[in-house]
This record gives sequence, structure tokens and C-alpha cells, in this order.
Amino acid sequence: MEKLVIEGGIPLYGDIRISGAKNAALPLMAATLLCPGKHTLRNVPDLRDTCTMIRLLEYLGVKTGREGDVLYLDSTCLEHDDAPYEMVKTMRASVLVLGPLLARCGKARVSLPGGCAIGERPVNFHTAGLQKIGARCNIEDGYIQAEAEGGLKGGTVYFDLPTVTGTENLLMAATLAAGKTILKNAAREPEIGNLVDMLNSMGAKISGRGSDTLTIEGVCALKPADNSIIPDRIEAGTYLIAIAASGGAGRVTNCCPAHLSSLVEKLRQAGLDIEEGESFISIDSRQGSALTSVDIQTRPYPGYPTDLQAQFMALMTLAEGNCTIHETIFENRFMHVAELRRMGAKIKTDGRLGLVNGLGRSGLRGAPVMATDLRASSSLVIAALAAEGRTDISRIYHLERGYENLVEKLSALGAKVWKEQE
Ligand code: EPZ
Repeated sequence: MEKLVIEGGIPLYGDIRISGAKNAALPLMAATLLCPGKHTLRNVPDLRDTCTMIRLLEYLGVKTGREGDVLYLDSTCLEHDDAPYEMVKTMRASVLVLGPLLARCGKARVSLPGGCAIGERPVNFHTAGLQKIGARCNIEDGYIQAEAEGGLKGGTVYFDLPTVTGTENLLMAATLAAGKTILKNAAREPEIGNLVDMLNSMGAKISGRGSDTLTIEGVCALKPADNSIIPDRIEAGTYLIAIAASGGAGRVTNCCPAHLSSLVEKLRQAGLDIEEGESFISIDSRQGSALTSVDIQTRPYPGYPTDLQAQFMALMTLAEGNCTIHETIFENRFMHVAELRRMGAKIKTDGRLGLVNGLGRSGLRGAPVMATDLRASSSLVIAALAAEGRTDISRIYHLERGYENLVEKLSALGAKVWKEQE
């Protein structure tokens, strides 16, 4: 296995071009199952997770091809209507084929994703919602067995929590259901807006984009898509925090500043100079001046994103003062804390609450650490960039799930970062 090595203490300067969003690419790729034909998706990031989704779609019978960041998907003939455990266990988002397969084939058998490092990750909102629009869903031998012989029928679905992939599964399924479907307390993440735009361009009739109530008038058939993936707001936020932690200055380009309002506000409160252009955000840590401790609480969009919690915690270990980090979305999203402590961070946790005792900008020392999940691993990269000395980060396959060309992008800003065999 490979590890990432970082010689820290070097301020980063320059521009980073943001790639397409992983959490938009995955549902949009799954949506091509809804309609036989040749689809085109543009600005698709080349990641472990998008490769996993390609393998799953190819297993189902989709023919794929890639030219740079353009992905071609021909879903004319499907050969299977099931997603096997061997594939689903490596990526929970494989559950996103459930809705499209059910809508197109009238049945689907998808392995339960199982838990992951950050929590149990149930899918009960997905199955309960599909049952509200005419499906029968049973859990058998670790699989979701869903059927809708006479086709799906419109209905009203209320989500107990604004589930992102639950909203996406129901959106996709409802496009081909007979009649009207209303999704209440739906998630409002920008990736869902990207999916709504793609489905409507395919002939779906979806209204309420960006709100917590989505209305879908079912149609008999859709036509193939040609759509672009929105920029990755979590990648952009990760690099803004990394530049701030290094004490340098730079810009993330080809991004949507409006998708990062909650993070930008917190970075300003921490004392960083931020400027927002049409498609870039610049950040200046003013030659490494002292950082102010700032509390955060993760919330569904447009609140502070849980996917940027670990990264902000790493930054706060460098601030002057104490702050609280309240993780309200997932039950076990502090796996990075033990590793940050190995680098000298002073962090206490109590359930979903973390208390960070900031040590100032020179508070961290490089050390061997281990990545445990995608966003925890990016918080270790941020800490390593700020720490004095060398940090070796093992199990970096976690990082490669969600960050395209991370070594190249950081090296271009002056970071000393490379891969080595473990
Ligand atoms: C999506 O996961 C993202 N993944 C996650 O990003 C992100 O952290 C999460 O949304 C929250 O924003 C993708 O989009 C592929 P949820 P998802 O359903 O849809 C509970 C990353 O790092 N819940 O919005 O699985 C659940 O336990 C990943 O890129 C149920 O109880 O998350 C959680 O507490 C990590 N039953 C809350 O709802 C359900 O049926 C929100 O989960 C579904 C969810």
C-alpha cells in the first residue's frame, strides 16, 4: 500500500483548479440508468469512487468510455438489476442505483451498504420513501429486494431527516412514476440541484429546485442526457482551509462561491481575508497571522457541511483559544481526533462534541498517522502541511476516493508532498 509523505511548515501560494463534485457525479451517473441511450456527462472527476460507480454500471450492462473529464455512458441494454455486496461494500453511494433500476426495470436487488467509519449509515428513509410511491421493499439476506410490478405510482414522501442520497433516490424513481410525487423535508444540497437540472433536461418535470419540497410529475419516458457536473464544494473548502493552515495565500478557481457561504463566514470569523469572484474564492492568512478560535455546528445545507468538519478542526488546533466542534449529522465522525493528537493537538471529545484547545500556529509536530475515512484523511493532510517536520499518512486510498490529483495540486502551491510505498 502507498502512504503520503508531507514535509510541513511551508506556506502555500497560488491557484488550485477545482474538479467536478464527487457527490454530484455519483447520482448523475446512476441517473443514466433511467433511460436507454447514449448519455454524456462532463467535468466528471477521476476518483476511486467514480471508478467504482463505473464498474457497477458496467456490471449492470452500461457501456462506458472516457475522454479526459467527459464520460460517455450507453445504457441501452441492461444485463442485471442487482448491485452485489462485493461492489456496494466499497462504496455506500452504490445504493443510488436502487431508485433508477426500480423505475426502469420494475424491480431491483441492491445490497445493504452496511456501516462505515463515520456511522451506521442506514437506508430506511430510502426504502420507506419508495414504498410510499408503490414499491414493495423487503430486506432479505443483507439485500434490499424492491419490486413494483405495475410500475411506480406518485405519492407524498416525508423524510424524517433531509437525507441527501435518499432525496436523490426518490427524485430519480419518481420521474417515471404515474402521477405526482411530493418530497417533503428533502435535502437542499447543490448536488441535488445538479441532479434536478439533469433530470429536467432529460424530460422530467420537477419543480421546487433548491427548496425542501420537490414536486415531480411523472412522465412515460425520458431522453438521454448531456450535462455537466458542478464543481466540488468540499474539495474547494478543503483547499481553502489547507492554504489558511499553511499561513500562505491563494485561490480556488473553477468553483461556486455561493455553495461555500457557511465556510467562508467561519473563515472570516477566524481572521482570514477572503474575496469571492464569480468562479473563484481567494484567501489570505496575512503572512501567517494568529487565527481566532471559532465554534462550528454541522447542519444540513445551507448550514456548515459535515464533510468539512474534520478539516476545520485541524485548522482550529492552530488557533489561539478554545472552540467547540459539534457534529450533529453523524454519530462517529471524530476518527481524525486520535490522529491529530499524535501530532500534538489538544482535543477532548464527548459524544458528538469536540473541544479544541488551540496551540497557535506552531503547535503541531509531524508524526506517522493513519487515514480512517475520506474527510478525516484530508484533515490529516491539512495538519501535516502546518506541522513542523515530516508526517507519513498511511491508508491513503481513503483520500483517493474524493480528491483528484491531490499531490499535483498541492505541489503546484509549493508543498513538499509525495507518495511512497508503505
Ligand atoms: C451524503 O451521504 C454524502 N454522500 C455524504 O458525503 C455526506 O456526508 C452526507 O450526505 C451528509 O451531507 C454522497 O452524497 C454520496 P444522509 P448520505 O442520508 O446521503 C441519517 C463524503 O464525505 N439517515 O444525508 O448517506 C444518516 O444516518 C460523504 O463525500 C437515516 O437515518 O447521508 C445521517 O445521520 C460522507 N436513514 C443523516 O440521516 C436513511 O435512510 C444524513 O444522512 C438515510 C440517512
